Amino acid sequence: MKTRASSHSSASSTLAASPPEAARSAPSSRSAPPAGLKSNDPCWCGSGRKYKRCHRATEGRVLPGRVSPMRDVPDHIVPTDYYRTGVPLRRDEPMVKSPDVIARMRVASRVAAEVLALSGAAVAPGVTTEELDLIAHHAYLERGAYPSTLNYHGYPKAICTSVNEVICHGIPDDRPLEDGDIVNIDVTAYLDGVHGDCNATFYVGNVDAASRALVDTTRECRDLGIAAVRPGRPISDIGRAIETHAQARGYGVVRMFVGHGIGEQFHIAPSVPHYYTPDAATIMEPGMTFTIEPMITMGTWREKMWDNGWTAVTTDGQRTAQFEHTLVVTDEGADVLTLEP
Ligand code: MF3
Ligand code: CO
Ligand code: CO
Repeated sequence: MKTRASSHSSASSTLAASPPEAARSAPSSRSAPPAGLKSNDPCWCGSGRKYKRCHRATEGRVLPGRVSPMRDVPDHIVPTDYYRTGVPLRRDEPMVKSPDVIARMRVASRVAAEVLALSGAAVAPGVTTEELDLIAHHAYLERGAYPSTLNYHGYPKAICTSVNEVICHGIPDDRPLEDGDIVNIDVTAYLDGVHGDCNATFYVGNVDAASRALVDTTRECRDLGIAAVRPGRPISDIGRAIETHAQARGYGVVRMFVGHGIGEQFHIAPSVPHYYTPDAATIMEPGMTFTIEPMITMGTWREKMWDNGWTAVTTDGQRTAQFEHTLVVTDEGADVLTLEP
């Protein structure tokens, strides 16, 4: 979830950005940048514009593709309160859940883990993120679940697919995955009145060693965050554990998006930052349910948003990975709910 509100009004389809007109029409024998080209040098394409104002913005970057229309769900699936309106109804919900809610979350979370594994197994070069969404959409329905992201504040798809420098909330589109990409798939299932939320980052074909190290460290960060869960301790212990590990490897920790309480509603208190802040002072108690979902970056942790109002990317274009689980605090530590049987 996001740490601050913003307009989600234009999560509709976006066409690929192209270089400025001058860049496309200018004569040049080159089709790639020479090594060592600086931001303020003239662009290699001969446009006469600065490199940073011309081709640098799109080179090696993931570009928005075409987003197909929102799918609907059959009548026998019990939808969320926002399915028709796009606006979740806010209700009071305790951070500590009843045994009944936890039991139902266990089932919804297992479904989410299954859908994640199924869609992850389909990741391969040439497969579009739209195809992954279709697989996931039907996998939810087969299990009687509603895809929680569908029309959540207008979000148009059943999963998020975040490729390379996309931090989170990538919208499945017609871009085929390329050999060497990394892609995060984020799955949230709504079943029997509760949500379960998890994600993982997958390799597309042969991935370079630096990206594999990023992905491994990100999974470790998530698991160290889970290991820091302990009743009587503040939530800030989680971010401290994650940030310490990421920084030891020279990576950044995204600050704009945080873990969240979850239950009958998708995103509720407490907020779970993945970096240390004394503001995360809520004391963990048995029965609390929340997610831990660190986004770890090779370069800067700063993000910017695509024009679709959803997709967050690193400002430097370097890669980022994420892993997420939903858990319940126990007397001893954490019980992870989003595991496959
Ligand atoms: N599943 C994401 C999370 O981990 C939230 C996705 S909300 C969406 O919190 F609307 F962007 F899909
Ligand atoms: Co989440
Ligand atoms: Co998620």
